[in-house]
Amino acid sequence: MTARDTDWEGVRLHVVTGKGGTGKTTVAAALALALASVGGKVLLMEVEGRQGIAQLFDCPPLPHEERKVAVAPGRPGRAGGEVYALAADPESALVEYLETFYNLPHAGRALNRLGVVDFVTTIAPGLRDVLLTGKAAEATRRRVGRRRVYNAVVMDAPPTGRIARFLNVATEVSGLAKVGPIRGHADTVQGVIRSPQTAVHFVTVLEEMPVQETLDGVAELRGLSPGGLQLGGIMINMVRRVELSDDELAVAAAGRLDVHELALGLKAAGIEDGAGPGGNLDLAGSLTAELTERATEALAQREERELLAGIGQPCYELPLITDGMDLAGLYRLAGALREQGAA
Ligand SMILES: Nc1ncnc2c1ncn2[C@@H]1O[C@H](COP(=O)(O)OP(=O)(O)O)[C@@H](O)[C@H]1O
Ligand SMILES: [Mg+2]
Repeated sequence: MTARDTDWEGVRLHVVTGKGGTGKTTVAAALALALASVGGKVLLMEVEGRQGIAQLFDCPPLPHEERKVAVAPGRPGRAGGEVYALAADPESALVEYLETFYNLPHAGRALNRLGVVDFVTTIAPGLRDVLLTGKAAEATRRRVGRRRVYNAVVMDAPPTGRIARFLNVATEVSGLAKVGPIRGHADTVQGVIRSPQTAVHFVTVLEEMPVQETLDGVAELRGLSPGGLQLGGIMINMVRRVELSDDELAVAAAGRLDVHELALGLKAAGIEDGAGPGGNLDLAGSLTAELTERATEALAQREERELLAGIGQPCYELPLITDGMDLAGLYRLAGALREQGAA
């Protein structure tokens, strides 16, 4: 692997949060592809049991087991690395945990059959989250011999409103369990989550609500003590290119576009709308209405962008993919992340 300067050198666990529907799963997948493009293996992990990753990569539902889902785009003359995916579920994680820490190969399975595992994870939602963050921490640290198994782990994490609690829960559990393996486990998990190896990225779109949620989420993470968590990048998703100059935008947004001039322009361009009685004037009328709307939106988005820039973390822009989100679309998003230094 060649060294390459990115903004997140040294980060090995990338936690991706954001308001639901802004593209958290999609951006997490694109980030995993981007990170894998230098070679090696990257694990993309979801923790909410939605099977969003399987849908995105068009493969059957993921078991609680790591599966190869994609090969990353390489660079000229070099193959890309591989993206593995895992739909982590707390029950399986608890069984694994019991087997590893108590060194009882079948204890977990027996307890699972008796329904004890279900019971435990239901009565102790905190424990549930520790098991999930624990799984991410374990994958991040995993080695075979001296070699790390994954160069990076990307977690499609819970949404903004729940992220601080989710990531902090091991601290709470660690405070409750004074000694013993659970305490040790919680401490190990926190050791990874609160280290420079972990960064929390926020996905948003340029709309008021998701931007506000991002600001709130960032403030909440910054407020966690002690030490807090390392903030990552702000990933602005579904960005539409604006082709108009500032002056044109202002004119269009103010609804001061000259309909007659536009109608003449259309005619000059060889567009004749013979339909309605108004002809090109009608067409120009609906176009100016559309332009006014788009320009107003673009101006409002500037304000949102400034609010996001005010967070003081690197911002990345991901284009709106208009021809359907498939692997090619994900590659484009991954490319955008790499060009901007996010991976
Ligand atoms: N950059 C993009 N361009 C176009 N469509 C996108 C983009 N990012 C996400 N989408 C689409 O938006 C929808 C929500 O994305 P998803 O990643 O599932 O969001 P979340 O995980 O935040 O709920 C999906 O249909 C997805 O294909
Ligand atoms: Mg999702």
